[in-house]
Amino acid sequence: MTHDLYEIIHRRRDVRAEFTGEPLDDAVLDRILTAAHAAPSVGMSQPWDFIVVRDESLKKAFHEHVRHERDVFAATLSGDAADRFARIKIDGVLESTLSIVVTHDPERGGPAVLGRHAIADAGLYSACLAIQNLWLAATAEDLGVGWVSFYREEFLRELLGIPDGIRPVAWLCAGPVSRLQEVPDLERHGWRNRRPLELARHEDRW
Ligand SMILES: Cc1cc2nc3c(=O)[nH]c(=O)nc-3n(C[C@H](O)[C@H](O)[C@H](O)COP(=O)(O)O)c2cc1C
Repeated sequence: MTHDLYEIIHRRRDVRAEFTGEPLDDAVLDRILTAAHAAPSVGMSQPWDFIVVRDESLKKAFHEHVRHERDVFAATLSGDAADRFARIKIDGVLESTLSIVVTHDPERGGPAVLGRHAIADAGLYSACLAIQNLWLAATAEDLGVGWVSFYREEFLRELLGIPDGIRPVAWLCAGPVSRLQEVPDLERHGWRNRRPLELARHEDRW
């Protein structure tokens, strides 16, 4: 891999429209899942699982649900925001080669998860770190990833047979892309801009 880590961090994009649907080599998929699985986790609980979804009927059913949830959100908007949202594509479920659903098991490594006694969400943070590892590794492999969160957890649990108590955290579309955009889609469509670091940075106190 010749890409510098910082270059990969800044090149990473959330992809919706650029998926080509070309095949994804099993060895590459294995590498990005291995990177995800190498993430840090509270108490080394490794509370994540990865469901690789290739079945077209599952993808279609999920996409229908996403379209419905898109409409639910659109109904909360009016005026300029509604017009801008109408132009934004929010998923590449049907166009991407495959999807990876990442789940969180709050019982994993329990009952005494070292470092989680005061912060229940620390398990969820860990699952998100696995997702970020996956996203960066995929970028290093010149692949695209698109996080889709327009879904109800119950629907996804039912669709994929996810056991009770285990929480779907993300539906990630993944695969080869024609290109990665330089500017995030939401910025290009005038929805929201990146906040300057100076506003996010504090010294000693908030
Ligand atoms: C938790 C989470 C959920 C997201 N859900 C969606 C989604 O449902 N649809 C979508 O198009 N993008 C989704 N995104 C992508 C963000 O819109 C994107 O990360 C942000 O606009 C910045 O763009 P960039 O990732 O290309 O830098 C999600 C990102 C995160 C971290």
